[in-house]
Amino acid sequence: MPIITDISQAVVLLKEGGIVAIPTETVYGLGGDALNIQAVAKIFAAKNRPSFDPLIVHVSSIEQAHSIAYLNEQAIFLLEKFSPGPLTLVLPKKSVVPDLVTSGHPTVAIRIPNHPVAIELLKQSGLCIAAPSANPFGYTSPTTAKHVEDFLGSRIDAVLDGGACDIGIESTIIDLSGITPKVLRLGGLPYEQLTEVLGELPFQMSSSKPNAPGMLTSHYNPGIPLRLFKSYSELLSEFNTTDTDRIGLLYSGKEIKASFAINLSKEKVLVEVASKLFHALRSFDKADIDVIWAHELPEVGLGRAINDRLRRAES
Ligand code: TXA
Ligand code: MG
Repeated sequence: MPIITDISQAVVLLKEGGIVAIPTETVYGLGGDALNIQAVAKIFAAKNRPSFDPLIVHVSSIEQAHSIAYLNEQAIFLLEKFSPGPLTLVLPKKSVVPDLVTSGHPTVAIRIPNHPVAIELLKQSGLCIAAPSANPFGYTSPTTAKHVEDFLGSRIDAVLDGGACDIGIESTIIDLSGITPKVLRLGGLPYEQLTEVLGELPFQMSSSKPNAPGMLTSHYNPGIPLRLFKSYSELLSEFNTTDTDRIGLLYSGKEIKASFAINLSKEKVLVEVASKLFHALRSFDKADIDVIWAHELPEVGLGRAINDRLRRAES
């Protein structure tokens, strides 16, 4: 499987019904023509993804979104305000969208990615591109072309390299198909930015029988047990009681010494923490440690979405 940088080569592969990993500002997606059932089936097979877990469809504009979904005023308002960007909307689907894409749901998830390569690919191809995160089911999402190659190298037609993803965690998902909007997933668009325009929103992020089924609790399992700590005094008491374990430490702030420690952001800048999170979790897999201790962040801004990913890795 080649890593490519030529967008027109990716266009050809996608138009032939191939599957190509694509960069977005959140994480890499595994893309295929959303209206081509064979291509969509290949995405599920390559990821080993259960067919009950629907895909996000990427479009380049609000106009293109109209071709696959029924957009109400609120949807148009949110897309105009936050797109292109890390926001996915669940809307009633139009009949052109294959049931396989939506796992039989009457709704489709749409997103306009804020990445020049992704937008150029969407425009050049004219396709709506279905793309779940480009990881095998149950693993962390990839944030570089190399991660995708490590994960799915032999199973896909190409990776379009667009550099490391700026945001590093997946998009925020809002369900607009019901009477009131609901948060299905916390992600790259901070919750507070949504509440500023929509008011407080109900959450529907249950972990076992989810409405966004990809949000299963084990979804971000890094392969080594992960525990969360809230304060350094809590961590220190753990250090004393678990001294047989080799500890990996995932934190931000002032330097701490441990046998294997990753400081995600010395200045505790949340965007920096998010962008490094999945890469850090992956590097723990290769380290010689028994347990990861990860520092919970304050529940504000991107901190909410980061904590959500850590809690899923914990369970
Ligand atoms: O940032 C992102 O959203 C990345 C990039 C590639 O765009 N994509 C991504 O896709 O994270 P994925 O498949 O890993 O997560 C999509 C989530 C899943 O939890 C899925 O269940 C939910 O979206 N979803 C998709 N269609 C849905 C629908 N019609 N109703 C409810 N949830 C839906
Ligand atoms: Mg995913």
